[in-house]
Amino acid sequence: MTIINEEAISGRVREEITKIKDLFAVDTFSLKRITDHFVHQLEDGLTRHDAEIPMNITWVPSFPTGRETGRYLAIDMGGTNLRICSVELTSERGGYSITQDKYILPARLKRGTGDELWELVADKLLDFLRKHDLLPPAKGEEEEGKLPLAFTFSYPVTQNHIRHGVLQRWTKGFDIRGVEGEDVVAQLDAVLQRRHIPVRIVALVNDTVGTLIASAYKNPDIRVGSIFGTGCNAAYMERCSRIPKIASSGSQAQFDEDSLIAINCEYGAFDNNRRVLPRTTFDEDIDASSARPGQQTYEKMVAAMYLGELLRLILLHLHESIGLFPDADVSRLREGGTMDAVSLSKMETDGSEAVRMEEAKRILQDAYGIDATDEELRMCCILAEVVCARAARLYACGIAALCRKQGVEECAVDVDGSAFEKYSQFRKRAIAALAEILDWPENEERVKLVSAEDGSGVGAALIAAIILNQ
Ligand code: GLC
Repeated sequence: MTIINEEAISGRVREEITKIKDLFAVDTFSLKRITDHFVHQLEDGLTRHDAEIPMNITWVPSFPTGRETGRYLAIDMGGTNLRICSVELTSERGGYSITQDKYILPARLKRGTGDELWELVADKLLDFLRKHDLLPPAKGEEEEGKLPLAFTFSYPVTQNHIRHGVLQRWTKGFDIRGVEGEDVVAQLDAVLQRRHIPVRIVALVNDTVGTLIASAYKNPDIRVGSIFGTGCNAAYMERCSRIPKIASSGSQAQFDEDSLIAINCEYGAFDNNRRVLPRTTFDEDIDASSARPGQQTYEKMVAAMYLGELLRLILLHLHESIGLFPDADVSRLREGGTMDAVSLSKMETDGSEAVRMEEAKRILQDAYGIDATDEELRMCCILAEVVCARAARLYACGIAALCRKQGVEECAVDVDGSAFEKYSQFRKRAIAALAEILDWPENEERVKLVSAEDGSGVGAALIAAIILNQ
């Protein structure tokens, strides 16, 4: 990435930049300290039902063999989109074909009612089945003729089996009434049945677990499935003997001590007790104005959903403290949620300094009607770097903790999520932080960050196949 020429920025402004850089810096000592605490909290989550990191037991019982076959439907309800897919797992090892459609979840729905949500999901599913000619001939209400569907629902749920999941709390800014504390499978299923949509939900899946399974389908070195997108979270396979709380999980399932089970960590909740993360006043503002203050402390410092907001708050602070954008009308800049994460990645593109400044200029003009000077544009680009670099370094702590927890020194980690692809610098920064935390010898990359295509759809289909062939 081209370095922005800080020399071209006047002394006073540079001083302010240095202050912000210091606030957002996470040095090696802090990275290690955060990771140590993280490992401890992961353990605690496997032990207690009310721990800070939920470590949800998902009842996904194994990695795929690579020989799974069949056609499955998958619905993926993430933070931004609703994706519906039909996945055909073919007999060749790791092979599949996929048909998928994506719908944007309307913003108003995020603060609507559960009924509106499930009706919308059912509408889109029906559209999809009709459009791709997938509706089976009517066979009454018999389960047999219904299409098997895996539902990827990327929020924390308590499951006592795989077709069940009580929503613990909404995350990622959602606040839909009537769903927290309820079984989301039963809610969706009731609407599907009422509308005679011929599908049967065979598994409820978290996106991290889908990613883990999809990636392991092709790559046996995968030990962690992680998401860096609207939210930030990870999953891995744990041995039942190392999950003390499994005995009191309310499940009727038979499992032996040596068998594996996928754990959805839900580690966006890490440090909700505010012990180790270096929170700034900007982080506190984000938390205070969020739908669930006090929750998802780590996620709010790392995930893409909050990065634009952090930059917006910093710019506003500098407007007020040192008169950044002195003659501009900043009323739009005062509005929450107006800077998206993609804007930050544009200010960090691999192009020249001039290209990066041009991107910043366009963003400030289009989104805020602000005509910035070159000095202000340089400053914006540097601040975008500062916010994104902290996110990547903190993201590495979660991954390092999961590697340490599993006792692995070398492995592959799948990273899925919109943001991972868009941030050209993310992988490099996260790897550098992992090297610092895990003391890798120079130039050795012991943990590989890879990215699976179609992770959510294929992972969900594989889980459906594993469950139905158990
Ligand atoms: C949030 C959700 C979690 C999901 C993650 C990534 O942290 O609570 O379930 O895996 O976002 O989408």
